[in-house]
Amino acid sequence: MLILGLETSCDETSAAVVRDDGEILSNVVVSQLDEHRPFGGVVPEIAARSHLDHLDSVVREAMDRSGVAFADLDGIAATGGPGLIGGVMVGVTAGKTIALSQGLPFVAVNHLEAHALTVRLSDDVPFPYILLLVSGGHCQILAVRGVGDYSLYGSTIDDAVGEAFDKTAKLLGLGYPGGPALEKAAQTGDPSRFGLPRPMYGRPGCDFSFAGLKTAVRQQIDRLGALDAQAVADLAAAFQSCAGAVLRDRCANAIDRFLTEEGVAPTLVVAGGVAANKHLRGVLEDLASAHEIRFAAPPIALCTDNGAMVAWAGVERMRLGLTDGLDFAPRPRWPLDPAVQVRKGSRAIGTDGAAVGQ
Ligand code: KG4
Ligand code: ZN
Repeated sequence: MLILGLETSCDETSAAVVRDDGEILSNVVVSQLDEHRPFGGVVPEIAARSHLDHLDSVVREAMDRSGVAFADLDGIAATGGPGLIGGVMVGVTAGKTIALSQGLPFVAVNHLEAHALTVRLSDDVPFPYILLLVSGGHCQILAVRGVGDYSLYGSTIDDAVGEAFDKTAKLLGLGYPGGPALEKAAQTGDPSRFGLPRPMYGRPGCDFSFAGLKTAVRQQIDRLGALDAQAVADLAAAFQSCAGAVLRDRCANAIDRFLTEEGVAPTLVVAGGVAANKHLRGVLEDLASAHEIRFAAPPIALCTDNGAMVAWAGVERMRLGLTDGLDFAPRPRWPLDPAVQVRKGSRAIGTDGAAVGQ
């Protein structure tokens, strides 16, 4: 089975051709970073227009590189949400158009499900597993029992962790996007020089909070006055260390809950852009080995948004006969756990309202 996947929900325009044996025949990603950098964050209107400008050529290149003709494809998958709605509409419309013109099935993929299943594209990870999904817009822990079978264990009550990395990096003058820059600065820093809080640490449950950690960095900067390079590195290291400790603590609770409720040992999986962070990977690997469970993470290139993960989710869904009609309407919010839908005012979106999520 050969699937073309389209991703346009945030600031990457991407198309990929993936085979059902896990072979990625092409994965073309055009990042809009330079267009958003002057604004210090993703501007939805700019993102939507940029997807519109680039998607045709990205699809063309993905098809060319894969060596596959449209007629050889078995289906088209496109991110149908959650995400910035303008971009999602561009991808969904393109996906439906190709599906209609080629007489192929169309699959509307939940972006969170695409992140959740990526580890099965890169590694042989069976269900069930616990997923820590950490990106700029999402921060949640899910029990993944199968395709379409998810329970939300916890999510952030304020900022997503990637958002906190980005905002803290901005405070430290490290530029945008902040996550990779902050990780680099932290390499030469002393995490113990500044005492920063660890929000939610030690509390029951699996919810997160990162706004206080970011505020504590701001207060520390105010106290210091001018920041020299060493202070920037030390604050970056302290932030990264506290964020890692909180994520570890929340995941430990998730593992305990899973063992109690399901009675089987899960694999611990991390996905999303922040999963590229090597310190965090190390912390989670250590947690998994302390619990004698397996740890898995997709390769870094598949952690940030890309078309291959969407194509793969399309493969997994099509294997089960799950396709969508051409009347599918793009969804700005689309929780993976259906129980969340009825809970009004779910806090899984960023406090600025621009972030995407549940
Ligand atoms: O999954 P993704 O590409 O897009 C969203 O759906 O948000 O994640 C992007 C997020 C950004 O907040 C970025 O700063 C963060 O992932 N990120 C990192 C690292 N690389 C990317 N955060 C910490 N350390 C990194 N190495
Ligand atoms: Zn994402």
